[in-house]
Amino acid sequence: MPPVIEVTHLHKRYDDKVAVDDVSFTVDKGEIFGILGRNGAGKTTTVECVEGLRAPDRGTISVLGLDPLADRAELTRRLGVQLQAGMLPGRLRVGEALELYSSFYPRPADWRGLLHDLGLSEKARYADLSGGQKQRLSIALALVGSPDVAILDELTTGLDPQARRDTWELIEGVRARGVTIVLVTHFMEEAERLCDRIALIDRGRVVVVDTPAGLAERAQAEQRIRFRPSREFDTGLLADLPEVSGVGGRGEFVVVTGGDGALNAVMAVLARHQIVAERLRVEQAGLEDAFVELTGRKDAE
Ligand SMILES: Nc1ncnc2c1ncn2[C@@H]1O[C@H](COP(=O)(O)OP(=O)(O)OP(=O)(O)O)[C@@H](O)[C@H]1O
Ligand SMILES: [Mg+2]
Repeated sequence: MPPVIEVTHLHKRYDDKVAVDDVSFTVDKGEIFGILGRNGAGKTTTVECVEGLRAPDRGTISVLGLDPLADRAELTRRLGVQLQAGMLPGRLRVGEALELYSSFYPRPADWRGLLHDLGLSEKARYADLSGGQKQRLSIALALVGSPDVAILDELTTGLDPQARRDTWELIEGVRARGVTIVLVTHFMEEAERLCDRIALIDRGRVVVVDTPAGLAERAQAEQRIRFRPSREFDTGLLADLPEVSGVGGRGEFVVVTGGDGALNAVMAVLARHQIVAERLRVEQAGLEDAFVELTGRKDAE
């Protein structure tokens, strides 16, 4: 089966600012494809080109076999796009907005069901919605057309933790119906939970495309060991251990980083000095570490 979305060597600049340098990726049918990257990495510019809202300077894009610019009218009926906040008239009510949008599509979803799933009230005026409620409405508007492909830029930014979890469930339900989803996000937990594959974008280029687990594995297999020692001691004793790569402190806590075997070595030293590690916590490197390692820079922007 050909990919649903195919982006090849996309390049886009704003005057002399290169926003997207060279981005290529494919998204398969039914996949949730995540796009992650630091602020200004070129994520929104990339998805706006995919949506046909911006014209690439170079490169090719195909969505459902269509050209986003040349086949704009047909694509609009099959693509759901999350609107940026503030794009609706203030006096429009939530129910009216959903009803209006569903009339644009040949086989719309049940907008009342979406309204209920997203905890929105039908009669509320757009201008009176809180930031999070506007965000929920933008998700509903992206999904109301029963699109084949949904592109969600910053899906849950501004939502409270419960609304975020509810939205994840909603998206999982949408995926279960075979919809292909592109998700731009800054939340590692969200990417880890929802995405089948993730493209990490840095300075307008794709650094890596992998599964969340594959990405986490690329991060150094370091452990972070955090504890409160039962008495003061010379942390140099730990820093000298070959398994330990770093020792730091935060308040009364000691934080040790190291590879395999660091935990055992640290515990042995503490036992020898009759120190108890209180409130001990050991963390393995995860997606967030991979993100920082693969896109983090010490040099100033
Ligand atoms: N309309 C525009 N005119 C000029 N420069 C722009 C425009 N939109 C974006 N840029 C610049 O292009 C670069 C990429 O922006 P883009 O919005 O694609 O980043 P992003 O990865 O979505 O960032 P964020 O995580 O902050 O949303 C940035 O340096 C930004 O300042
Ligand atoms: Mg953006």
